[in-house]
Amino acid sequence: MKEKILFTNLVEDALDKVIAEIDPAGVFVMADTNTARFTLPRLLQLCDSLQGATVITVDAGDEAKNIEAATRVWRTLIDKGATRKSLMVNVGGGVVTDLGGFVAATFKRGMPCVNVPTTLLGAVDAAVGGKTGINLDGYKNLVGAFSEPVATIISTTFFNTLQPQELLSGYAEMIKHALLSGPQDLSLVLRYDLTAPDYDPDELLELLRKSVGVKADIVAKDPHEKGLRKALNLGHTIGHAFESLALARKSPIPHGYAVAAGLVAEAVLSSMMEGFDSQLLHTLAQYIHNLYTQFAFTCDDYPTLLRYMAQDKKNDKPDQINFTLLRAPGDPVINVTATPAQITAALDVYRDLMGL
Ligand code: GLY
Repeated sequence: MKEKILFTNLVEDALDKVIAEIDPAGVFVMADTNTARFTLPRLLQLCDSLQGATVITVDAGDEAKNIEAATRVWRTLIDKGATRKSLMVNVGGGVVTDLGGFVAATFKRGMPCVNVPTTLLGAVDAAVGGKTGINLDGYKNLVGAFSEPVATIISTTFFNTLQPQELLSGYAEMIKHALLSGPQDLSLVLRYDLTAPDYDPDELLELLRKSVGVKADIVAKDPHEKGLRKALNLGHTIGHAFESLALARKSPIPHGYAVAAGLVAEAVLSSMMEGFDSQLLHTLAQYIHNLYTQFAFTCDDYPTLLRYMAQDKKNDKPDQINFTLLRAPGDPVINVTATPAQITAALDVYRDLMGL
C-alpha cells in the first residue's frame, strides 16, 4: 500500500509536514457542514499549509454522496484553477473521504489527496485503503475508483464530540478487524469498553493502530479486491441486508450497528458451516447484545432479507449469496456460498441468541 498512515494527536504538525512533502500547486479542503463548523476552523487557523486554501463544503449525510455534489466540486476546482498538481484535503467522515477521494481520483484523471478522518468509522475503515465513490439511483458506492490517498492522518482528538452511537458504529469495524486478526486482538477489543464515561483515548488510539494495521495489511496484499480483500466484507452480507431493511422501514440504523448485528449472524453461519467455536460465538453475541441496540425482525422478514443479500454486489452470480466466514479468529474463508435454508437457519439462531 502506497498510502502513508499516521497516528498522532498532533494533527496540525502532521498535516503541515505531509503537505510540505507533497509541495502542491494549491490546496483545496473538503469538509461537510458539520466539520466545516466544528473541526475545520482550528485546522485552518493552526496549519501554515492551509493558509490560502480553498474550502469546499458539502452537505453532511450519506444522501449527499451523489453525482450532483461531485459535479459541484469538479466545477469549483475548475473555477479556482486546480491542476493535477493541486491537493485535496478531505476533512470529515466516510462521506467526505469517499466523495473527496472520488473527485480527486477523477479530476483531470487524478490529483493527490490526503484524508483527515474525523469519525471513528472513517478512521478505521472509509479513509483507509483507497475505496472512493458515490451512490447512484439508491445503490451505495455504485460509481467509484480504487485510488489511495497520499496519506491519512488518524487522531482520536476529533472523537471527543462524537455521540456514543457514532463511536459504537466505528467500533463494529474494529471488532471485525479483530475477528480477522486473531484471538489476541479479539480479546483486547472485547475487553475494552468505549462507552465507559472515562474511556481512555490513548488506549483507543493504540487499539485503532492495531485495527487499521489489520486492514492495511490486507489492502497491501490485494488493493483491488480480487480475493483476500473480500475478507473485509465479514459481517457485511447480512449487515447490509439489515441496513437496507431498516431503511425500507424508514427507520435507518447506523452502518456500524448493522455490521455488529451482521457479525453475530455471520458468526452463527460460520459456526454452522466452518466450525467456528460456539463458545466464542456466545461471547461475541453477548458483547454486541450488551452494547448495541438490537435490530428487530421476525421470520416474516426473511424473504426480504434474502432478496437484499442476493442483490449484494459482491455476489459473482445471480441468485448465489456469498459470504466471508471464519473458521476461527484470524482464519477467514472467502467466497462461501450459503443456501437460503442455511441462511434462514442462521437467522433463527441469531434471533435466539439476541433474544429477538
Ligand atoms: N470497507 C472494506 C474495504 O475497504 O475493503
